[in-house]
Amino acid sequence: AKNVGVLAMEIYFPPTCVQQETLEAHDGASKGKYTIGLGQDCMAFCTEVEDVISMSLTAVTSLLEKYTIDPKQIGRFEVGSETVIDKSKSIKTFLMQIFEKCGNTDIEGVDSTNACYGGTAALFNCVNWVESSSWDGRYGLVVCTDSAVYAVGPARPTGGAAAIAMLIGPDAPIVFESKFRGSHMSHAYDFYKPNLASEYPVVDGKLSQTCYLMALDTRYKYEKLEGKQFSISDTDYIVFHSPYNKLVQKSFARLLFNDFMRNGSSVDDIAKEKLSPFSNLTGDESYQSRDLEKVSQQVSKSLYDAKVQPTTLIPKQVGNMYTASLYAAFASLIHNKHSELAGKRVILFSYGSGLTSTMFSLRLHEGQHPFSLSNIATVMNVAGKLKWRHEFPPEKFVQTMKLMEHRYEAKAFVTSKDCSLLSPGTYYLTEVDSMYRRLYSKK
Ligand code: ACO
Repeated sequence: AKNVGVLAMEIYFPPTCVQQETLEAHDGASKGKYTIGLGQDCMAFCTEVEDVISMSLTAVTSLLEKYTIDPKQIGRFEVGSETVIDKSKSIKTFLMQIFEKCGNTDIEGVDSTNACYGGTAALFNCVNWVESSSWDGRYGLVVCTDSAVYAVGPARPTGGAAAIAMLIGPDAPIVFESKFRGSHMSHAYDFYKPNLASEYPVVDGKLSQTCYLMALDTRYKYEKLEGKQFSISDTDYIVFHSPYNKLVQKSFARLLFNDFMRNGSSVDDIAKEKLSPFSNLTGDESYQSRDLEKVSQQVSKSLYDAKVQPTTLIPKQVGNMYTASLYAAFASLIHNKHSELAGKRVILFSYGSGLTSTMFSLRLHEGQHPFSLSNIATVMNVAGKLKWRHEFPPEKFVQTMKLMEHRYEAKAFVTSKDCSLLSPGTYYLTEVDSMYRRLYSKK
């Protein structure tokens, strides 16, 4: 198969959200800490009727319907998630309900888990399958689904929730440049979920930031294959895994500093002058220097606005969606720029704590209906979905978190079944029975 990549996309996020500005005031944080300090606008969260299974049922069903894909045409289905609902039964098996109904049970693939990286592992599995001798001519399907929730404290405003479905096949408008891939994987305790009785992670926030930035230096692998020095100028857009926007700004600034250290073509004379006092820092010192962070953010601002800002809308509005965050950032780019993307190269940086990371490259083409960039933008309807949300006051958000803590690992309960805020076609949780079996309905 040739030009293998993403043919179609659909995104779903809960319509329930809390404004960061009101959350900031409620938490007693200083004004601007969440909005400017973290760079976040709003945060989506699941109420008691939604979870990672309902969100992915909605995203997958909607993708199949809106692009008129016969469920029999799916030959491989992979799920990326770090939200544990069951320690054995995969999320993929819940989603098989969609395909069983149509008589298709011949579908390979299960779940991939490692923090925010599982979606990328799932995507690579599908792309590799279509490119391999095992491919049977059918489509691959990937869904990234997560609900990111944190205990009360500084990490809480970096939550979020969403599911993204992607259809994989040949002759795609979003093509993988598979030879340009570089990974960095190692052992770190930056963010992990050792307490199986709680949905909340244990997080060393500062370490997770440093690990993320160190992992970014994977880009050197890219060079080995291209045979020349890689710089920011080689790509039109850069899409980052986005736990919160400030880290994305810092990451791009880090790439510009790397370019400077290696005399890359993206760095102009003014930037060179401002960065020169930092040229003797060791690697470790450069990760810790607050002055370097500030100066490199300042000198990278105009390039950031051109190459990164168009990718930031959904992560800023919805929050960290863990496995879906990177692909929601990419969806923001398609939403904002779909008519100008043909021929453009996009670099993506996927990061999962623990840690796993890969930088990879996509080449975009307009494609043919229904698998075209403009149709993907229409189907995703990002503006419409953002507009039809319901803002909850922080008190109600906190109440919801408490109820969900109580419900975690619980059995024998029925939910309120209140789907009044959900749009038609959305799946929702109605009951968890005495055998922990989860039951869903569709609005
Ligand atoms: N106005 C403007 N900015 C402010 C204000 C204010 N009133 N108050 C604070 N700030 C700034 C700080 O200066 C800082 O920005 P800087 O780093 O550019 O200096 C920023 O707000 C954050 O404040 P801190 O006090 O440094 O950090 P905090 O203790 O609030 O924790 C953190 C932030 C570490 C991101 C926390 O939210 C967290 O642990 N999140 C989860 C971990 C995470 O997402 N890691 C990323 C990779 S791993 C993953 O994807 C899960």
